[in-house]
Amino acid sequence: MKKIVLTGAAGRLGGYLRGPLSNLANTLVSTDISDDIGDLAANESFVQADLADKPAIHDIIEGADMVVHFGALVDEASFESILGPNIIGSYNVWEAASLHGVRRVIYASSIHAVGMYPKNQHIGVDVAHRPDGFYGLAKCFSEDLARMYWEKRGLETVCLRILSCAAVTNPRALGSWLSPGDLVRLVKRSIDTPVTGFTVAYGVSANDRSPVDNSAAQFLGYRPQDNAEQFADDILAKSGPLDPLDGAHMCHGGPFATTGLGVSAMAALKLVDD
Ligand SMILES: NC(=O)c1ccc[n+]([C@@H]2O[C@H](COP(=O)([O-])OP(=O)(O)OC[C@H]3O[C@@H](n4cnc5c(N)ncnc54)[C@H](O)[C@@H]3O)[C@@H](O)[C@H]2O)c1
Repeated sequence: MKKIVLTGAAGRLGGYLRGPLSNLANTLVSTDISDDIGDLAANESFVQADLADKPAIHDIIEGADMVVHFGALVDEASFESILGPNIIGSYNVWEAASLHGVRRVIYASSIHAVGMYPKNQHIGVDVAHRPDGFYGLAKCFSEDLARMYWEKRGLETVCLRILSCAAVTNPRALGSWLSPGDLVRLVKRSIDTPVTGFTVAYGVSANDRSPVDNSAAQFLGYRPQDNAEQFADDILAKSGPLDPLDGAHMCHGGPFATTGLGVSAMAALKLVDD
C-alpha cells in the first residue's frame, strides 16, 4: 500500500498501532487534535487536525489506500461534546474516504454500542444496537454510517467493537480484555483480509470469560493469543463478592450502563495502560 491514515494517533491505542501500521505502507500519515505525538517513524508524517474540520480531514485522507479511524472523544459526555469529534468527525472521515477512492476504513467502534445487553446474554456481532449513552450512540451512528457507505458507495469498513484495551484491574476485564498484541493482530487482519464488505468484529482477547461471540467475523482470520485468565486469582481475591443487581456488573457496558446520560464514566473504569 502507498498510504495509510491513522486518526487518534496521539491516543493510547494509536500509540500501539503506529509502529505496526508504518510497516504496512510506504507512508503512514498520523493525525490527531493533540500534537503530543512523540518520535515519528522514518516513513511517518504527522498532521494536527480536528476531526470536525471537513477540509482538513479531506486533505489528509486524499491519496490514502486505507484509513484506520481511532480518533474520538473517549468517554460518556454531553451530546454537544460528542457531536463534533464522534459524529460530524465520522461523517467527514467516510465522506472523504468515499470521495477519494479509499478502499477500506478500519473503525474503532465500542462495546458501548451494545452496552445495555445483560452480561449473561452472549451477544454476537449482529445483535441490534443498544447503546449505553451518547458515546455509545455515536458508535452506533458511525457503524450505520459505515454500512450505508458500503451499501450505497461500495466503501468497505471493518468496525471493531473494542471491549477494554487496558491493563486488567477489575473482574469485568477478565472477560473484556483486549491485549495490545491482540489489538495489533486484529487491525492487521482487518487490513490484509482481501474482501470484507461491511463487517463488525468484537475487539477482545481469547479470554475464558469473554461475553461476546465473534464467530460471524471468523473469516477475518483474527486468532487472539492472549487470555485474561492469568489475572483471575489475583483480581477475584481482591474484588470480593459483587452485587448482581448492579448494572455496572451485569451489563456489557460496565459502569457506562449505570452512569447518567452525559456523565463521565471513564473514572469508574480506572483504566491503566498495559
Ligand atoms: N481503550 C479502550 O479500551 C477502547 C474501548 C472501546 C473503544 N475504543 C475506541 O478506540 C479509539 C481510541 O481510544 P483510546 O483508548 O486510544 O483513547 P484516547 O483518548 O487515548 O485516544 C483518542 C484520541 O483521539 C483524539 N481526539 C479527540 N478529539 C479529537 C478531535 N476532535 N479531532 C481529532 N482527534 C481527536 C484525542 O486527542 C486522542 O489522542 C477511540 O475511538 C475509542 O472510542 C477504545
